Amino acid sequence: QASLKERAAAKGLIFGAAADKHILLNTLFANTFTKDCGMLVAENDLKWRTIRSNPHTFDFSKGDWLVKFARTHGMLFRGTPLVWELGLPKWFKKKVNHKNAERFLVEHITKVAKHYAGVVHSWDVVNEAIAVSRSKRSDGLSRSPWLEFLGEDYIELAFRTAAKADPKAMLVYNDRWLDYDTPVGNAQRAAVLKLLERLKSNKTPIHALGIQAHLKARETRFNAEKMRGFLKDVASLGLKILITELDVQDEGLPADVMESDRIVAAAYEDYLSVVLDEKAVIAVLTWGLSDRYTWLSRNSRRPLLYDSYFQRKLAWNAMARAFEQA
Ligand code: G3I
Repeated sequence: QASLKERAAAKGLIFGAAADKHILLNTLFANTFTKDCGMLVAENDLKWRTIRSNPHTFDFSKGDWLVKFARTHGMLFRGTPLVWELGLPKWFKKKVNHKNAERFLVEHITKVAKHYAGVVHSWDVVNEAIAVSRSKRSDGLSRSPWLEFLGEDYIELAFRTAAKADPKAMLVYNDRWLDYDTPVGNAQRAAVLKLLERLKSNKTPIHALGIQAHLKARETRFNAEKMRGFLKDVASLGLKILITELDVQDEGLPADVMESDRIVAAAYEDYLSVVLDEKAVIAVLTWGLSDRYTWLSRNSRRPLLYDSYFQRKLAWNAMARAFEQA
């Protein structure tokens, strides 16, 4: 039976998933991963907290292990995030301030992007900069030490710095809460589009939008036409689109596993059947591959394509069908 990466590639698409070194050391999981994934993205191994145990060092050992794993198995490799307000090391709050924030930002992006130049397909240069539902700003920028110390131009500075360090990587702006026809979703899509328009009008070196797509199975307010319109607007800016962190939270679904898996699978298929119609969409990445290793374990039992014993689920079939119908 054709793998997900083969079904995706048959339509010129990339399918992959997020993982970190410590779970890929499980060979049963690693074999499942390499069979289906054409791309590996680091879930946590390229975050500041992993690389920067102190202000003066960069430890690339985990990321390098992932690059080697990807190359050994003929996979593309993507990095995330170069700049984010979370995943920061404990020393960050004590050491970084408005006087040295620019130096820390430029140094980190330069060193990390240079280190992986030539082996990384794409970077989420800035992650989750917009949070209209929480921001008091007209542009919806979410509070972040980078915004506090450098102002809204930190985003453009980050992209320009990344482009200088690795002129070949695809530079992506990544965000969440873009999926539903809710007040938050509608406002978030509008604010992200405005940010992208501003960056493009400033000739910022940005190549794509990353839509995280952390879906909720019980959320019914999905408006296909609004989603199609948003994707078209992004594409009309000359940007590609990646679905970067797809999973389906199943909290609140019936306790019956088959019933809940069926609803989760339908959520994957319904979303992808709309999103994959947009030609600018080039990749679909799930945030994890097996329920055994999901960030959602607290309140979602079975959000991914494989169960905790690495057996395929109905969601796997749904993903396969979505690529077939793309
Ligand atoms: O590795 C340490 C471990 O040594 C320590 O004992 C333990 C307890 O403190 O923490 C472990 O680190 C955790 C790390 O995941 C690895 O498991 C961090 O506490 C925890 O905060 C971190 O959570 C990650 C989260 O981002 C924050 O970085 C999740 O795994 C990861 O799935 C999640 O992914 C984010 C994307 O990066 C951005 N989009 C949203 C997505 C979900 O929140």
